[in-house]
Amino acid sequence: MTLSRRKAVALIGGIGAFALPAPFKPVSAQDLPLAPLGVRPPLPMPHLLGPGDTLTAGEVTLADGQAGYGYNGTIPGPTIRVRRGDTFQVQFNNRLPHPTTVHWHGLLSPPEMDGQPQDSIAPGAGRDYRFAIAQRAGLNWYHPHPHGATASQAWQGLAGLVVVEDDEEDRLDLPKSDSELLLILRDAKIKGQGYFGFVVNIQGNQGDVPLVNGVAWPMARLPQGIARLRILNGANARVFKLGCKAPIWVIGNDGGLIDRPVAVQEIELAPAERLDLLLDLRGFSTGDLVELTCLAENWPIMMIEVGQPFRPDWAIPQRLSHIEPLAHEGGPDREFVFEENERINGSRFDINRIDFAVPFGKTERWRFVSARGAPHPVHVHGGHFQVISGTGPNGTLRQPRPWERGWKDTVHLRTHETVDILVRFDAHQGRYLLHCHKLAHEDHGMMMNFIVAKDPVRAMEKAALERLYGPLCFSDA
Ligand code: C2O
Ligand code: CU
Ligand code: CU
Repeated sequence: MTLSRRKAVALIGGIGAFALPAPFKPVSAQDLPLAPLGVRPPLPMPHLLGPGDTLTAGEVTLADGQAGYGYNGTIPGPTIRVRRGDTFQVQFNNRLPHPTTVHWHGLLSPPEMDGQPQDSIAPGAGRDYRFAIAQRAGLNWYHPHPHGATASQAWQGLAGLVVVEDDEEDRLDLPKSDSELLLILRDAKIKGQGYFGFVVNIQGNQGDVPLVNGVAWPMARLPQGIARLRILNGANARVFKLGCKAPIWVIGNDGGLIDRPVAVQEIELAPAERLDLLLDLRGFSTGDLVELTCLAENWPIMMIEVGQPFRPDWAIPQRLSHIEPLAHEGGPDREFVFEENERINGSRFDINRIDFAVPFGKTERWRFVSARGAPHPVHVHGGHFQVISGTGPNGTLRQPRPWERGWKDTVHLRTHETVDILVRFDAHQGRYLLHCHKLAHEDHGMMMNFIVAKDPVRAMEKAALERLYGPLCFSDA
């Protein structure tokens, strides 16, 4: 990306903060239609957070005077890029009227940098997040994780991307710059309480209009050729079912590249899941319009205008990455039943209770069971996992979907589904979270604290004592 283009991008970094360029009228809550505009607004690309820039959460005012929350004044917030081996460093300020935290979803941060609810940042306060990046390239993201208030803060606009880069990915020479789009999908409500106005709904908040990078029904441009679409479902509760008339290959997901490209017709993407896609526009001509659709709602989410040909000889690589398959003998080590809207295994989240401890470095098999209230996008902090088998309705086999290959941190549990995963925590020891990423479910108690420890028995004993007496000092974990 050239400097001049980067500048232009920064000018349209998100709604609320900057006016859209001249020929397009600004999209505000008032004129957001339930169906696409005749003239679609251009797709905004969030600007990059520069080295040394601070990240500030605060209120933003939309074009029509309605309020939302943004990072650095934009919805979505700035994109953070970091390379494997580098130190991730963000100075964060909370200018919201409520306590918050920033969780780096997908980054393997030490527990104290993970933005968990107990590490709340008061209004007016801030903190320095800093840790080493020792993980594969991939699309990650950041969002608030305050105790009991994640749904409302995220709904009001707080989210942004964290892109991790590495040499393995660079060697593939994947489409970039004008041939790459980073997309945050979500929904918003324009009928009733206003665009980002939040109303408590224990079943999960769903809107009536899809947003891409903060705007409804945008128009993007991609060269004729093969493009890379990297997508986050940043919605509170909505599952998107994506389809396109151009051929699509899945090349990656939450944990980075998968082993090889897999052609798909449609993709179900639950909240917090990410996708890395190649979109084959070679069969189209300059000026053609190609629609990205949500098949579940029949929403023409975004239109792509095909531009001049670019790199016509670039071919899709046959191999993408080597994924070490985790090995495990026998049945599940743990089972988690996600019940209704608020419980796992019968109990609700207690911020002061450690629910279980996991041995550091050992592969376990976990079973997630849906007991009503689905979909439950189940998310694990502190490690990545591999989706293996499961069962669907009436005992049918649930095979991993093409976009569930490789490494994941969130898996979509549908009604009457059971999903088994293999997981190995080998990045950090300490306290992490397991929860449903339908944010209303998370806030209402569908969450557990667990500890990763070399000695899980001792870790549980220590946690029980600390619950009674407060923090104790042991020489090791
Ligand atoms: Cu994306 Cu615990 O969250
Ligand atoms: Cu997370
Ligand atoms: Cu749930």
